[in-house]
Amino acid sequence: MRELALRVLGERGRWVWSRLEVIGDIAVIKKPIYGDLTLEDFVVLAEELLKVVPVKSVWLAVTPVTGPYKTRGFVHLAGEPRSWTIYREHGCSFKVDITKVFATPRLGHEHLRVAKLVRGGEVVVNMFAGVGIFSIVIARLSKPGRVHSIDINPEAYNMMVENIRLNKVEGIVVPYLGDAARVVEERLAGVADRVLMPLPDLALEYSPQALLALRGPRGFIHFYLHLKADKERMFYSKAVEMVRGKVEAEGWILANARTRVVRKVGPGMVQVVVDAEVERFKGVA
Ligand SMILES: C[S@@+](CC[C@H](N)C(=O)[O-])C[C@H]1O[C@@H](n2cnc3c(N)ncnc32)[C@H](O)[C@@H]1O
Repeated sequence: MRELALRVLGERGRWVWSRLEVIGDIAVIKKPIYGDLTLEDFVVLAEELLKVVPVKSVWLAVTPVTGPYKTRGFVHLAGEPRSWTIYREHGCSFKVDITKVFATPRLGHEHLRVAKLVRGGEVVVNMFAGVGIFSIVIARLSKPGRVHSIDINPEAYNMMVENIRLNKVEGIVVPYLGDAARVVEERLAGVADRVLMPLPDLALEYSPQALLALRGPRGFIHFYLHLKADKERMFYSKAVEMVRGKVEAEGWILANARTRVVRKVGPGMVQVVVDAEVERFKGVA
C-alpha cells in the first residue's frame, strides 16, 4: 500500500497507512492522523488501487471505531458506491455493511481458535455477536448444542439473521436483539457452558451476567480487554487480576486463566483475551 501511495502521491504518500483492509470485495484505507493529504489525493489513490487489487469498491475510514455499535465513519472513494459485501472466513459467508456494523478480518484467527475449543454439545452464549461471525464459525466447525447470539445493533441483528440462513445454521445459532445484560437476565440464565464477551468496553462490567448465564458448577468465559502495552508485558497478569476481581466478587473462583494478545488496537494498546475457567465457590466446610 505504501509503495503504491509513494508512486501515486510522491513523497506525501508516506503518510498513508501501509496496511490495507480488505473485507469481501471492498478495500478500506484508513485516514492517517498526520500529513496533509486531501480527499482528492485519496480518490486518485483509490482509482489506482482498483487497478491492482481485486476489489470493486474503495472506502476511506475517516473515524476510529466508535459508539455503542462500534462502527466507523466512511467516505466512498472509488468503484461501486456499495457499502455491503459478502465476507468469507473459514468456509462461511457473511453479509456485512461496513458503514452499519462492526467488521474486521483481523479477528479471523481468534474466531477459529475459539471454535476449536468448543466441545460437542456445548451451549455457548455470545453476548456481543455482531453479524454472527464467531457464532457461525463455531456452529459450522464444532458441534455445539446451541449458540445464543446477542447484539444491540438492529442492523447487526438483521445481518446476523441473514447470515444464519446463508450458512444453514438455523436452530443452532439463535439470534437475540437487545442489551446483553437484559437478554441474559430475562432469557438465558443458567443455560451455558461457555460465554464469549468480545466487547472490551463492557466485558468486565457485564461479568455478573456472563456468570449468571453459566449452567454448571464450572464453565468458560472469554473476556476481551484493551490494555496498555508495556515492555515487561505486565498487561498479561493485569488482565488476569482484573478478571479474578470480577469473578470473585460474584462468588466464583478463577480456576484457570490463559491469556494471549489478539491484536494491536492503536498506538501502545493491545487487545488481550483471557480464557477463564471458573468454578462456583462452595464455601468453607
Ligand atoms: C466488537 S463488536 C463484536 C465483534 C464480533 N464478535 C466479531 O467477531 O466480528 C461488538 C458488538 O457488540 C455490540 N454491542 C454493544 N453494546 C452491546 C450491548 N449492551 N449488548 C449487546 N451487544 C452490544 C455492538 O453492536 C457490536 O456489534
